[in-house]
Amino acid sequence: MSHAGMCDAPPLLEARGITKTYPGTVALNDVNFDVRAGEIHALMGENGAGKSTLIKILTGAETLDSGAILIDGQPADADTTQRAQRSGVWAVHQEVMVLPNLSVADNVMLGYQPRRFGLVDRRETRRLADAALAELGLSLDADRELGSYPVAIRQLAAIARAVRANARVLVLDEPTASLDAPEVERLFDVLRALASRGTGVVFITHFLDQVYALSGRITVLRNGRVVGSSTTKALPQVDLIHMMIGKGLEQAIAAERPAKSGQGEVAARFTGLGRKGMVEPFDLTLHAGEAVGAAGLLGSGRTETAMLMFGAERADAGSVEIAGKQQRLRSPWDAIRAGLAFSPEDRKADGIFGDLSIRDNIAIVLQSKRGWARKLSRPKQQRLADEYIARLNVKTSDAEKPIGQLSGGNQQKALLARWLASEPKVLILDEPTRGIDVGAHADIVRVIEELRDSGLALYVISSELEELVAYSERISVMRDRRQVALLERDELSVDRIVAAIAAPAGEQ
Ligand SMILES: Nc1ncnc2c1ncn2[C@@H]1O[C@H](COP(=O)(O)OP(=O)(O)OP(=O)(O)O)[C@@H](O)[C@H]1O
Ligand SMILES: [Mg+2]
Repeated sequence: MSHAGMCDAPPLLEARGITKTYPGTVALNDVNFDVRAGEIHALMGENGAGKSTLIKILTGAETLDSGAILIDGQPADADTTQRAQRSGVWAVHQEVMVLPNLSVADNVMLGYQPRRFGLVDRRETRRLADAALAELGLSLDADRELGSYPVAIRQLAAIARAVRANARVLVLDEPTASLDAPEVERLFDVLRALASRGTGVVFITHFLDQVYALSGRITVLRNGRVVGSSTTKALPQVDLIHMMIGKGLEQAIAAERPAKSGQGEVAARFTGLGRKGMVEPFDLTLHAGEAVGAAGLLGSGRTETAMLMFGAERADAGSVEIAGKQQRLRSPWDAIRAGLAFSPEDRKADGIFGDLSIRDNIAIVLQSKRGWARKLSRPKQQRLADEYIARLNVKTSDAEKPIGQLSGGNQQKALLARWLASEPKVLILDEPTRGIDVGAHADIVRVIEELRDSGLALYVISSELEELVAYSERISVMRDRRQVALLERDELSVDRIVAAIAAPAGEQ
């Protein structure tokens, strides 16, 4: 595609005066937004700002109440995903596109498989798929099931499919949430290459660094309205954050905490806990009133460690003591009854009951723990839900809404509330701040500190090292599925953690 005359040409894609209302919520209010050929445009905003709704409308996954969508300056039909795609506008979802049981080739060529004598021509399908993948610098086994590849690769295959079908605008909603650093780099390289060929890219993320690394322009939404749009170069990070949260930064930055005095009782002691091929045996003690952080790269074994602690994976070595009692954790229920709670990383997949109310979703673990014979009364459930909605600042008009209607970040907060409401002695959090915005981030950090100071023992897995340093008493550093260091409070710093992660095993 030629770039000549790009500046005075109408935008590739334009949304004019888009309004979208859900019962009780104006998700989008007179929103204008445009995407130019060859640009990477970041769409930013706090949880619930309307980002996903806007891209759903642009890509035909949701209908608009009023407003118009134009392509090349002409009114376009984006009433369904197929129609939007036919106009060249494609969403790249890590979950949606992929038919995991089909081969890579079939996924890339879906709907476009070449035919011979009325049948799909498998060789030609594979050849074209290989070519489409090669264009993105990917070489995959095109005959393998796509589902057997990691998320990062599936996402690139989804991009290859869109490119192959002549996508002119690619829209990615939080594509990097579960990728590690090299995977993110690879995705970015692909997006940059596509942009340089004239594709327009729209990109939603909560990682500010990524926005600055990748985008040329930023549009910010707040409460369903556009607050501003600017080239990335001309928008300092502080201003961006101000635009997003619409208030002072003070709240968004976790305060330094005073030095810790004394140590609480032992809440949990894990001795030689491990499982062959999963996590090497480790020792760890968690005291009441302290947070122990877990740092390490993706795949270093942090989540597996948490699963062993919680009985979600069966240990084949070691012992667990909780509040002074030896426990055999054969399942998460044993762990919950013993006083543990575990808020897993992939909250979307794990245990959201989309049709149930927020109240039901919050009360459910406490209810099961008490046993269904001792039913929580409705008013009690309501108080519980209201308390946690306020405490975690969940954005919703009320607790009776189906949880599936909350924005992604607010669903995460509600699920965290579920575990807090279960009154645990030990709380394990896996990436509690992933995928949520700066404001919500600060809410969760504040809650972690409050919980700690109220006497809970916490084990927090996080890739946000500065955050870990701020609230942790000690930090367990994992690498290659073993605990390679347990840093004490006076040696905690981001540099020290990075050094521990980087040092080859055995040199600790
Ligand atoms: N299907 C739905 N039914 C009712 N309300 C909805 C629905 N989808 C979204 N909303 C509401 O619309 C608003 C905007 O949600 P949206 O998902 O667009 O936010 P977002 O900016 O993508 O947030 P996040 O960063 O948390 O993903 C929220 O208040 C949300 O509760
Ligand atoms: Mg969203």
